[in-house]
Amino acid sequence: MAYKDFNIRSYNGLIDKGRVEDLERRCAVGPAEHVFFIDTMGDPICRIRNSPMYNMLVAELNNELVGVIQGSIKQVTVRKYLAKVGYVLGLRVSSTHRHKGIGSSLVHHLVRWFVANQADYAYMATDKDNHASINLFAKLGFVRFRTPAILVHPVNNSSFHLSPNIKIAKLKVEQAEFLYRKFMGSVEFFPHDIDKVLGNKLSLGTWVAYPRGQTWCDQFGIGGGQVIPNSWAMVSVWNSTQVYKLRIGKQTVSCFLYKMYSRLIHKLFPCFELSEIPDFLEPFGFYFMYGVHQEGPGSGKMVRALCKYVHNMARKAQECKVLVTEVGGENKMKLYIPHWKLLSCSEDLWCIKALKNEERNSPLHEMTKSPATRPPLFVDPREV
Ligand SMILES: CC(C)(COP(=O)(O)OP(=O)(O)OC[C@H]1O[C@@H](n2cnc3c(N)ncnc32)[C@H](O)[C@@H]1OP(=O)(O)O)[C@@H](O)C(=O)NCCC(=O)NCCS
Repeated sequence: MAYKDFNIRSYNGLIDKGRVEDLERRCAVGPAEHVFFIDTMGDPICRIRNSPMYNMLVAELNNELVGVIQGSIKQVTVRKYLAKVGYVLGLRVSSTHRHKGIGSSLVHHLVRWFVANQADYAYMATDKDNHASINLFAKLGFVRFRTPAILVHPVNNSSFHLSPNIKIAKLKVEQAEFLYRKFMGSVEFFPHDIDKVLGNKLSLGTWVAYPRGQTWCDQFGIGGGQVIPNSWAMVSVWNSTQVYKLRIGKQTVSCFLYKMYSRLIHKLFPCFELSEIPDFLEPFGFYFMYGVHQEGPGSGKMVRALCKYVHNMARKAQECKVLVTEVGGENKMKLYIPHWKLLSCSEDLWCIKALKNEERNSPLHEMTKSPATRPPLFVDPREV
C-alpha cells in the first residue's frame, strides 16, 4: 500500500471522540524508561481548549484512525518582543502504522495552520530521550532551544511544617496580573493574555510569601500606597486534575524501582507511613505550579515555603497525587523547590522553528545560538 493513502483532516468530535481517546489510551509516550499514558477523561481536546486558538487534526487510513495531533496559538514575549507562537502537542501515531510518514505529515499540516494564522514560530516539547520525536521534528527544521527541568513531588498524607517567620497571602487576580506583567513580562514565552490564564477556573490562585512583620501593600491594597518587601516570592497553581489524568507505564523502570524501594522500606520499618506514597500505576491527577518567581536576597526560602503551602493545600484535594512545576534549565530556583529526583525530569527538551523569513541576529538566532546563557522561561499551564 502506498504510504500516501492516509488522509489528514480536522477532528470531528461526533465521529472521532471515542477513537482518539482509544488511540491516546493505547499510545505510550516517551522512551521505555519513562513511559506514561494520558487519560483525557472523555474530552480529547482537554489539553488545548483553554488556549486562545486551538486545532486538532486526525490521520485516517482505510477508515481507521491512525494518528492525531493538537496545536494552539497565542502571543508571547520572545526576546522582549511580542510574537505569535504555535505550540505542537499530543502527536500520536498508532504503533502498527509508524514509519509511514504519518507523524511528519500531521506536523506539516498543523504548521500550515500556524502559518495561515500568521504565527512567527512553531515550538514543541519532548522528553530528551524520545528519539523518535526528536528526529522527526529535527527533519522538519525544528532546532533545540531550551531544556527546562520538570520537578515532581508526591502529595503525602502529612503536612509540611510552615515557618512562622514567613507570611503567605493570596492575591486577587488583578494583583497577580500586575505583578506578573511588572516582574515577568519580559521573560521568554510570557503569555500576553496572562489575565486569561489567571482568571481561568482551573487557576486556583496566586500566593505571595514574604517575611512576617513586613507590610505588603500594592496599589490594589487598602490605602493605595505601594510597599512591597525587598524579599518575596510568588506562585500560581493550576488544577490539572480537572484536565486529564496520568498513568505511568508498568515498564517504567524508575517507577518499578520506586515500588521495590518503598516495599523494602515498608518491610524494614513497618511503622513508617507508606500509605503516604501514591500508587503511580493507577491514573492520578496533579497540580501544576506556574509563574514561580522570586525577588531579593533570601527569597529562596520564600519559594520553598510557597511550595510547602501548595503541598498542604493539595492534600485536601482527593485526586491530586503529585505537584509538578517546570523551571528553566540554568535556573537556581530549582534548589528551593522540593522534588523527588526519581520522579522528575532534569531536561525537558524544547525545540523551535521560525515560520517567517529570519535574518541573522533574529530573535530565533539569538535564542538558539548560546545555550550557556539561558534566560528564565515562563511555562504556560495551559500547555502542560
Ligand atoms: C513519534 C511518532 C509520532 C512518530 O510517528 P511516525 O508516523 O512513525 O513518524 P514518521 O514516519 O513521520 O517518521 C519521520 C522521521 O522521524 C524519525 N523517527 C520516527 N520514528 C523513529 C524511531 N522509532 N526512532 C528514531 N527515529 C524515528 C525518523 O527520522 C523518521 O524519518 P525516516 O522515516 O526517514 O527515518 C510515533 O513514534 C509515536 O506516536 N510515538 C509515541 C508518542 C510520542 O512519543 N509522541 C511524541 C510526543 S512529543
